Amino acid sequence: MIIDTHAHYDDEKFDEDREKLLLSLKEGGIERVINMGTCVKTSREAVKLAKTYDAVYAAVGVHPEEIADLSGDWLDEIRALAGAEKVVMIGEIGLDYYWVKDNKEEQKKVFREQLKLAAELDLPVSVHSRDAAEDTLAVITEEVAIAKAKGQRLTGIIHCFGYSPEMAESFIKLGFLIGIGGVVTFKNSKKLKETAEKIPLEKLVLETDAPYLAPEPFRGKRNSSLFLPYVAETIAQIRGIAREEVEKITTENAYRLIKGL
Ligand code: NI
Repeated sequence: MIIDTHAHYDDEKFDEDREKLLLSLKEGGIERVINMGTCVKTSREAVKLAKTYDAVYAAVGVHPEEIADLSGDWLDEIRALAGAEKVVMIGEIGLDYYWVKDNKEEQKKVFREQLKLAAELDLPVSVHSRDAAEDTLAVITEEVAIAKAKGQRLTGIIHCFGYSPEMAESFIKLGFLIGIGGVVTFKNSKKLKETAEKIPLEKLVLETDAPYLAPEPFRGKRNSSLFLPYVAETIAQIRGIAREEVEKITTENAYRLIKGL
């Protein structure tokens, strides 16, 4: 059985068949899905999906692309939502200098506040990081140290990992896991294939980012957790092991990291 550690089933692309799809996950070999929040509204929707569907768990948080619209009490709202049933992560949070780069300081501030919240609540984080490797590593390094000094723990997943294998090592040293999804199946993903080969299997988790980033041979189509065996198969081929082994170990990794799953 597979765990999808990062998906967005509240997306309107699932409006037509969400229920059918989410009820078919277990039959398709997907044991659990963690549905991300990206703002207060979608975090609320993630909690609702988790309440409704057995296989769905929730993460709550504010994505770096969403911080322009934040209300004054957003952090209190996220904190309150984090207390709901089946909320197992804070996410997705992070830094994105690809889409938005004129508010780096504000992004870092919002990221830090949510890392502190995660440490306080002892929930792992799901981190979005694009064109921001150095700053992401620097912020997480500092916040891990701050958490440790307070007797707290800060850990999580670098979702849709797109940096170098060396950068993956740096995050792993901080106690983080590396999330790999459909991109690893793309022909031009040389760097990610190298990461998927080099890092210990015990540090990998599977994810979709559905509806985005469908693996080959569905590239460009709507993604779903049901496509994850294609991702597992690609990683298995790269590492020269069986697909079942990739599925088993990455599932164990997810359960080890994410309490309450
Ligand atoms: Ni995402």
